[in-house]
Amino acid sequence: MPKYNLNVNGKPRSIEASADTPLLWILRDHLDMVGTKFGCGIAQCGACTVHIDGNAARSCSLPVASAEGKEITTIEGLSEDGSHPVQMAWKEVDVPQCGYCQAGQIMTASAFLAQNKNPSEAEIKNVMHGNICRCAAYNRIQKAVEIAAG
Ligand code: FES
Repeated sequence: MPKYNLNVNGKPRSIEASADTPLLWILRDHLDMVGTKFGCGIAQCGACTVHIDGNAARSCSLPVASAEGKEITTIEGLSEDGSHPVQMAWKEVDVPQCGYCQAGQIMTASAFLAQNKNPSEAEIKNVMHGNICRCAAYNRIQKAVEIAAG
């Protein structure tokens, strides 16, 4: 089995896996980082979103081979203690209902806000609309992203 050298949350990790193994399963099954969730498995729901070199990416559809040499950040690495501004806003608004999609939502929002410091309401809606929430907590998600944007 080929070996891959990954950089996950600032730490080097060496993994043996077939080249087409989705990064999601490397994170969850090999590295025991289960904050990143499996929803659809076909890049449609956003539950599995992580950052790859700072950009939001759907780890269910990203082969491990293409993640090598890139900086991978998961929800576990976003902050040590939940103090990232997006996480703080999430708590302030009390966003989650069932909570399953929240890591993906937060990773999408945090990548977006790192690149767009002063987004409009419409820009937030546009970037977040690909992250599905079965509880339909969309109004709270929108509000939290607006708070995190300042
Ligand atoms: Fe990856 Fe749904 S699990 S987008």
